[in-house]
Amino acid sequence: MGAIKLSTIKQTSEDKQRLEMFEQLVGIDEQKNKLLTHLEWIMRPLNTSNWLKEHHPDGLELANRIKKIPRLIILSGDVGCGKTELSNYVGTKLSQLLEDEPVFVHRAPSDLRGSGLVGDLANRMTAMFESVKSESTRGDYHILIIDEADDVSSSREGEEQHHEDRTGVNALIKEIDKLVDVSARIAVIMISNRTSSFDPAIMRRSAIEIKFHRPSKPELADILRSLCSGLKLDEKELQTLVNICANKSPRFTYSDLFNRVALPVLLNAIRNDVPFSYDKLKEALENTEPSPQFKDHGNE
Ligand SMILES: Nc1ncnc2c1ncn2[C@@H]1O[C@H](COP(=O)(O)OP(=O)(O)OP(=O)(O)O)[C@@H](O)[C@H]1O
Ligand SMILES: [Mg+2]
Repeated sequence: MGAIKLSTIKQTSEDKQRLEMFEQLVGIDEQKNKLLTHLEWIMRPLNTSNWLKEHHPDGLELANRIKKIPRLIILSGDVGCGKTELSNYVGTKLSQLLEDEPVFVHRAPSDLRGSGLVGDLANRMTAMFESVKSESTRGDYHILIIDEADDVSSSREGEEQHHEDRTGVNALIKEIDKLVDVSARIAVIMISNRTSSFDPAIMRRSAIEIKFHRPSKPELADILRSLCSGLKLDEKELQTLVNICANKSPRFTYSDLFNRVALPVLLNAIRNDVPFSYDKLKEALENTEPSPQFKDHGNE
């Protein structure tokens, strides 16, 4: 079986810097909450006994399924909207929610496909899941992150689909199914810009697809307020900045706003030994083109 090297980090609630980075991801509260809620449900299935006693004393068959909640969560959507960043820090926040239990976060290697030899992808896929399972013991909490997952999960339906890819997807599906019976709690997060190309059998195995999109007007206001905290802007100035952004088509990504607009303004201010200013930020917002949109069904 092909060797596989996962990068694993033990994330604990004591890691202040990771928690700060998690909080500093602005404008994606809905995605954060959905992800944390589902991870918590996977890690600690709800105890239904009191609820059943009160509301369904004669029993409710559906409640038995709580323990079988699918272990897969998909993060999808446009580029530069925080999918990878959120997956980097969510383990620490989850650890806090699980009353300080450590959470082990494993990242699939970027060369998961291997050398392209027949059977290589399927073997490496199986080896990756085996590796996570071998590092876990009963009661541990683990997250396996497969970023840029369209590379290894595209639909087996197409005529053009290579045999190698089909067996890789088969292996992935089998491994996801097996997780339900593993005593350690293992969640899998798959991240992609292109879920429309995913195999339907993978999509149906996910507990939820959490979609990311470019910031809308209210989210833009939150981001700009965060970027300008310390500048004492009045509402009218803030609204001017929001309108500049809202009138762009496509709109800015989160990454554009932080890394391609605000950061160069900050670096110039430091280099020229002048304050970070509203005027320079406004000018940069006006003069920067948003990065091109990643076209896929579901990406606005
Ligand atoms: N919600 C956010 N708040 C603050 N910064 C953000 C946010 N989203 C993204 N960023 C910034 O943009 C950069 C890119 O984000 P990230 O790598 O998570 O994007 P992505 O959604 O994974 O994009 P891609 O689909 O291209 O991989 C991050 O390093 C971070 O600096
Ligand atoms: Mg990414």
